[in-house]
Amino acid sequence: MNNNTDIDYGPLAKLIGIWAGDKGCDIAPEPDGEEKNPYYETITFTAIGDVTNAESQTLTAVHYRQIVQRKSNNKVFHDETGYWMWDAAEGIIMHSLTIPRGVSVLAGGVYTHTKDTEGNSVLDVSASIDDKNWQIIQSPFMQKNAKTKEFHHQIKVGNGVLMYSETTILEIYGKLFEHTDQNKLLKQ
Ligand code: HEM
Repeated sequence: MNNNTDIDYGPLAKLIGIWAGDKGCDIAPEPDGEEKNPYYETITFTAIGDVTNAESQTLTAVHYRQIVQRKSNNKVFHDETGYWMWDAAEGIIMHSLTIPRGVSVLAGGVYTHTKDTEGNSVLDVSASIDDKNWQIIQSPFMQKNAKTKEFHHQIKVGNGVLMYSETTILEIYGKLFEHTDQNKLLKQ
């Protein structure tokens, strides 16, 4: 592992720093339908250096911690951590995440260098229980009762603004549910 400060984080470079936003909208499953939770949050992205795998693959990595609070009562109701990783040789972005429900995800995607109309960089990653490369690991309880089947995450970042939109497809309460989260954050 190398912690030099002159490392090229590629498309992850713009993430590094502390971000805060209070325009969050969560749609979560309920036995009789769904609940909508307005939220605010802080996400801290920390550059941690690069790693070499099998003496041939080099990844640069950014660690993050996301703390999400309900507007209605200020309580933390989502706490997530993981890494974003950049494989410059293959042009691949990876996103690993863990949440304290007994669920972990390793999502991936090809970085297309796409910019949106405002000139923001666009990062897109996905995972699915049917994908052989980008997978979801979940506890026996969650596999049986609240199974995550797919995860899609898009970040648009540039000019001190970070917008994200996440869709987690769940099998819960006997049906498929689109659990979604989105927010707009400003660099602090
Ligand atoms: C900002 C991000 C997120 C927020 C605010 C959020 C919030 C919630 C809420 C409020 C529930 C309903 C259950 C409860 O009240 O505790 C829920 C359920 C769930 N979430 Fe999330 N979530 C987020 C992201 C994710 C992600 C990234 C995953 C997995 C990849 C995930 C997986 C699940 C699962 C499996 C459940 C079902 C458990 C249940 O409803 O009993 N969530 N989430």
